[in-house]
Amino acid sequence: MNQSLIDFFDSLERVDPLSLSASALMQNYGKQSVCLVRGNGAWVYDSDGNAYLDFLSGIAVASLGHAHPKIAAAVASQAEKLIHVSNIFANEVGPKVAAMLDRLILMGSPEEPSGKVFFANSGAEVNEAAIKLARKFGMETGRYHIITAMGSFHGRTMGALSATGQRSKQAPFEPLLPGFTHVAWNDASAIEAAITDQTIAVMLEPIQGEGGVVDPAPGYLEDVRKLCNRRGLLFIMDEVQTGLGRTGAWFGFQHHSILPDIVTIAKALGSGMPIGACWARENVAGAFTAGDHGSTFGGQPLAASAALATIREMIEIDAPNRAQELGVRIDKNFEGNPEILRVSGSGLLRGLNLARPVAKQVAEISLGKGLIVNPIGESIIRLAPPLIVSSAQIDRACDLICESLGDLQ
Ligand SMILES: Cc1ncc(COP(=O)(O)O)c(C=O)c1O
Repeated sequence: MNQSLIDFFDSLERVDPLSLSASALMQNYGKQSVCLVRGNGAWVYDSDGNAYLDFLSGIAVASLGHAHPKIAAAVASQAEKLIHVSNIFANEVGPKVAAMLDRLILMGSPEEPSGKVFFANSGAEVNEAAIKLARKFGMETGRYHIITAMGSFHGRTMGALSATGQRSKQAPFEPLLPGFTHVAWNDASAIEAAITDQTIAVMLEPIQGEGGVVDPAPGYLEDVRKLCNRRGLLFIMDEVQTGLGRTGAWFGFQHHSILPDIVTIAKALGSGMPIGACWARENVAGAFTAGDHGSTFGGQPLAASAALATIREMIEIDAPNRAQELGVRIDKNFEGNPEILRVSGSGLLRGLNLARPVAKQVAEISLGKGLIVNPIGESIIRLAPPLIVSSAQIDRACDLICESLGDLQ
């Protein structure tokens, strides 16, 4: 045994976690002012024992709150049984998650037979899978271009970043992957004008999350669906942020009575265990054949056990319905407030469009008062609380935001 390594290991216990984070990690997330050490439901606690109402859920991940006993039990029990096997072999858990996702995606679309799922570990990775699947699907006809929307966010890997419609995030990493065209959001005719002989798909979020919780205009997604049908294009729906009840339906597209050809899901799926899923209609999914795509950890039993328990619990608490009802309470809290021009989004994915460009300051002041919210740009506050949040917690959070805005006067 190397004693000096053991001494170094033990010394890490005595280092302030924020200083270690600053010295040991790449500084790509900006300065961190709080180190969170545990959670319980909608609450998280820092290393000094301060409590915070988490109205971000780890950016729309902890939809069932923190340290949910059923998720913890499912993960612990699976960890004692089998954490990982290669996809050379089947496992007992992943396919059940796939079958449940298929059921939830197809709810309200009785005419559809069924689809199939590919598992990966994050939102960006399942969008990579969607991009590759669309390209493979279009290979025989020489089509590989994908049209996406300005303001969209699809992830940080090179393919997903190339799909993302935000220049500021792309610019430092050029040259990007060729084959993406970005057009104005909420304008189906802009998509139509951008279609060429090489276009294979249109990729959209049902609500632009990172772009500022920007809603689709009435009829937009339906028009895009019709356009895709008319021109033989795949419609890829990025539900990484909006999926699994968050917007008041199992999936954001279900507010619009359309069915996409490919749906990507991650964030809330594993309640924090890294797992993402790319679902595709059977005829599209068939474009992937053995060896076309893969992931070492994709669909492994441990992450899948968290996903299975998450889906079960979401069904039991009727998570979409809860999100819908509690979302209305957020609206009510800000009704007539001159500081909030508009509350965008739906269910429990909401954007407070502020009358003043003070989003960052409001988030900082709120943090000091024990509330975590997320500023987007200068004047939007994103709220994405756990779907198990109580009405009283919603009221408390809204009061704290109003108080923080008041402190800025
Ligand atoms: C709509 C959407 N797609 C993709 C991603 C990327 O997900 P991940 O960070 O898990 O790679 C995000 C993350 O915020 C997202 O909101």
